[in-house]
Amino acid sequence: MIITRWIDVPASAHGRAARLAVHLAGTGPLVVLLHGFPLDHRLWLDTLHGPLAATHTLAAIDLRGHGASPGSGDAVFTMDLFAHDVAAVVRTLADEPADIVGLSMGGYVAFALWQQVPQLVRSLALVNTRAVADNDAARAGREAAIATVVGQGRAALAAGTVDKLLAPGADPLLRARFLSMAEGVPVESIVADLRGLKDRPDRLPLLPTITVPTLVVTGEHDPIASPAESTAMAQAIPGARVVVLTGCAHLTPMEAPERFAAELGTFWAR
Ligand code: MLT
Repeated sequence: MIITRWIDVPASAHGRAARLAVHLAGTGPLVVLLHGFPLDHRLWLDTLHGPLAATHTLAAIDLRGHGASPGSGDAVFTMDLFAHDVAAVVRTLADEPADIVGLSMGGYVAFALWQQVPQLVRSLALVNTRAVADNDAARAGREAAIATVVGQGRAALAAGTVDKLLAPGADPLLRARFLSMAEGVPVESIVADLRGLKDRPDRLPLLPTITVPTLVVTGEHDPIASPAESTAMAQAIPGARVVVLTGCAHLTPMEAPERFAAELGTFWAR
């Protein structure tokens, strides 16, 4: 069963006050699940309903302005702002560090959390994510995406993205699940995300500082976090292991939920 809890975060140097919806399943040590762009906690529905809930409290956050969490009016959602919110959730839900699982943008947030408050992090699962900042071409792509969503709407942006994120021949239901999430995120949140993504810092220097157990997961066909780049990222993190899920692209928790959960379970059992 999933229950939703509301957590208030006061205004800070990172941004305005926010109210976060946190969707909880299971019992045991706290695991925080951080969705990617432009998604919400439903990315993790299979994980919340799967076997990991037997041994862990799974907390899938709707980042501010996504899913059930209202927007805060911030013009830019920096990864530091999201990480500050995540820290408030961990402090509210547990009196010990949490296992952090972040997919793509959620992984960028996990890096920011590690930099801000490493004492809240027990382990890291960096899923379909990357450490490098945007290059000039990627930054121009963010501006083009802002122009698309402002000029043509969310459906145009979502339709132009979905086929890159799923492996060829993916179940049409996965496509529909992605589109329903992406088309549900308010335009102002999508724009604030894109500004934050465009200006996020290079995390390569952070990688050797990561001292908690770390698992890197990606998909064989991920065009954003390729297997080669993910392997290099894992090699830069002391003791990290990389798993490449065959037949998957960028949304591995939805594309291969059983294998994804099994890899996390094995990782946490070590
Ligand atoms: C995501 O899935 O969160 C995005 O692909 C991240 C990005 O565009 O860098």
